[in-house]
Amino acid sequence: MRLRPAAMSVVGLLLAAATAMAAPSYEGYRKCGSCHRSQLDSWEQTAHARALDSLAPRARAEAKKKAKLDPNRDYRQDPDCVGCHSTGYDHEGGYDPKEPSKYLIGVGCESCHGPGSEYRLLHRKAGQSFEKKKQTAPRQQLAEAGQEFQFEERCNSCHMNYEGSPWKGAKKPYTPFAPKLGKKYRFDHAKAVRSEKAMHEHFKLEGVFTGPPVSSFHDEFQSRAKPGVSGKEE
Ligand code: HEC
Ligand code: HEC
Ligand code: HEC
Ligand code: HEC
Repeated sequence: MRLRPAAMSVVGLLLAAATAMAAPSYEGYRKCGSCHRSQLDSWEQTAHARALDSLAPRARAEAKKKAKLDPNRDYRQDPDCVGCHSTGYDHEGGYDPKEPSKYLIGVGCESCHGPGSEYRLLHRKAGQSFEKKKQTAPRQQLAEAGQEFQFEERCNSCHMNYEGSPWKGAKKPYTPFAPKLGKKYRFDHAKAVRSEKAMHEHFKLEGVFTGPPVSSFHDEFQSRAKPGVSGKEE
């Protein structure tokens, strides 16, 4: 078959899209938060949002002493620490201690939901079709664009990453706050993921996206979700 130039450029575009999709990058919480206002406001109140502050000198001094860390030292640029206290460190578009971006400070939206450069465009497009024509879109395309729907492995990569962890992915740098330091540091995923104080409160979705994949707790969270406020992209 001979392709006409117009058809060729369509193929080219599809290839370019597929290549871009292979490596979505991190963008920071501002992009997400301009549309998802309610989740942003709620997340800003969490310990995740302020996780980088815990690396500052004199913050959490007692906890640091217990873990044999120096409470007077500034750990905010330490490669052994920042990976779990910021968003996307060591990944495309992620946190860089040498050029710190406010929107990548702390454990942000994309630390849990996945790097958003590709799927956020699909959110916008689907949101517009839904608004105009009540047309829904398959969730599957979001997963293919890098959006996370299972969460547990992502949580584990920070919370279960300690020396001697039963989690198979564990590797250095480990968290200094392993369960052997105290019961408080034991990570029970099923319990932790239900903590709205640690994630963010949940707000009712309109149902723009349908079908698999969904998390095992999605229906439960939506059944008691509040009405939310959404915004338009800035
Ligand atoms: C241009 C606006 C816009 C931007 C930017 C945006 N979203 Fe969305 N997002 C939407 C809309 C619209 C929906 C569908 C909401 C509904 O069904 O009520 C959605 C749905 C979602 C959902 C639920 C998907 C499901 O399972 O049904 C999550 C989670 C989400 N967005 C996270 C994010 C994150 C994280 C970012 C940043 C990387 C982001 N969004 C950026 C508009 C946006
Ligand atoms: C990028 C690393 C990272 C990821 C991913 C992550 N966390 Fe965390 N989490 C942290 C850090 C760091 C803290 C401690 C923040 C602080 O106090 O400075 C924390 C704190 C918490 C807390 C305690 C909050 C409090 O108020 O004491 C809970 C519960 C929690 N995380 C659950 C989860 C769950 C569930 C997931 C996955 C859905 C998750 N986390 C994903 C790094 C992460
Ligand atoms: C593998 C991921 C990871 C690394 C690396 C990491 N942390 Fe954390 N850190 C966490 C998690 C997860 C928590 C939350 C623990 C909890 O509450 O269960 C945390 C909590 C903390 C806290 C709060 C403890 C408390 O009880 O108040 C401090 C302080 C802290 N980390 C400092 C550091 C310093 C300093 C480094 C580097 C030497 C570091 N972290 C490296 C994941 C990590
Ligand atoms: C610590 C992990 C974590 C962080 C950080 C996080 N989320 Fe979520 N988010 C979740 C979990 C878990 C769900 C529930 C998923 C489900 O229902 O299947 C969720 C659900 C959502 C939903 C669906 C509707 C709802 O309220 O349940 C949206 C939209 C969303 N998050 C946006 C955001 C935005 C925007 C940010 C950053 C400002 C953010 N999230 C930060 C874990 C996180």
